[in-house]
Amino acid sequence: MPYFYIITAPDNELELAHAEFAVMAGGQAEGRVGWSEIGVDITNAAYVSLCVRGLARAPDFDGLCVVIAGKSIEADGFAIRVIRQASSYDKPSPELCKELADVIVGSPNLDAPRIEFCLLIREEELWFGQVVSRSKRGWQRRLEPLQQYSWALPSRFARALVNLVAAPGDRLLDVCCGVGTVVAEALDVGVDAYGCEINKKIAGMAAHNLALLGYNGRIAVADARQMRGSFDAVVADLPYGHTSTIAAGLYAEILTAAGKMAPRAVVVTAGDVEELLDRLGYRAMLQAQVPKGKLTRYVYLLATG
Ligand SMILES: C[S@@+](CC[C@H](N)C(=O)[O-])C[C@H]1O[C@@H](n2cnc3c(N)ncnc32)[C@H](O)[C@@H]1O
Repeated sequence: MPYFYIITAPDNELELAHAEFAVMAGGQAEGRVGWSEIGVDITNAAYVSLCVRGLARAPDFDGLCVVIAGKSIEADGFAIRVIRQASSYDKPSPELCKELADVIVGSPNLDAPRIEFCLLIREEELWFGQVVSRSKRGWQRRLEPLQQYSWALPSRFARALVNLVAAPGDRLLDVCCGVGTVVAEALDVGVDAYGCEINKKIAGMAAHNLALLGYNGRIAVADARQMRGSFDAVVADLPYGHTSTIAAGLYAEILTAAGKMAPRAVVVTAGDVEELLDRLGYRAMLQAQVPKGKLTRYVYLLATG
């Protein structure tokens, strides 16, 4: 039976959440659930909130209880989390948990559970399994002290970009690092991350933000077009607000430099740049659109080598 993953994302960020899930767990996602043959550590995920080892599934709740009883699942000190992704099932969660507890061998411990089960209620099917990994979602606590500016990415979005392109131990360069959101998220998950930013004042804000988080010497004031070096991955959250022709020239130059530094890149733009990426010979492995107000961010995961 496959693992199932719970995805927690607002509607506008769902495509990005699916991309994160595809890269981290290698499976297929539909709405706010994903399935994969493998169970992976999602402690550092932005949107993938639970990884659950599937133990039973059935089209209705009574059928699910019969399947679980037939498996003689033993667990001492367990708790059950109910996740509802269907409007039609109105039985209260405590009642469902009590009925499930009756078919599990062992006793519950809601205060300090040693084992956590998950009941997922979907319109057409119910799933039951054991939680094996959960996201710790530390980024939410870090937002407050940081210096922000209007272009800064939300930390969660930045965390997802990191997860698309880098793993702990990788060397990563954010070539348009702004106030350092992506660099901070990357360092937080053990990626050896650096940033460059053309605007001295903004680069100073990035350096300040990273120092607050305990990281120094990670930000250079530099033009991404002139950057050289060797990295495992590049992030390029390209400047918005240019006319399309200026942007095309600038984007091409920044992305050409990026491609020489790393075999893969995540690129974020405020418009569709598929034609440009084609022209540069980059292959888009994944893409996602994230609309917010008047702005739609386009996210591309690229093989640049
Ligand atoms: C969309 S913002 C990046 C925001 C960033 N991800 C954050 O969360 O703070 C783009 C940034 O690229 C910078 N920039 C523009 N042209 C650049 C260049 N040639 N080299 C490096 N940075 C550049 C801008 O000053 C701006 O801060």
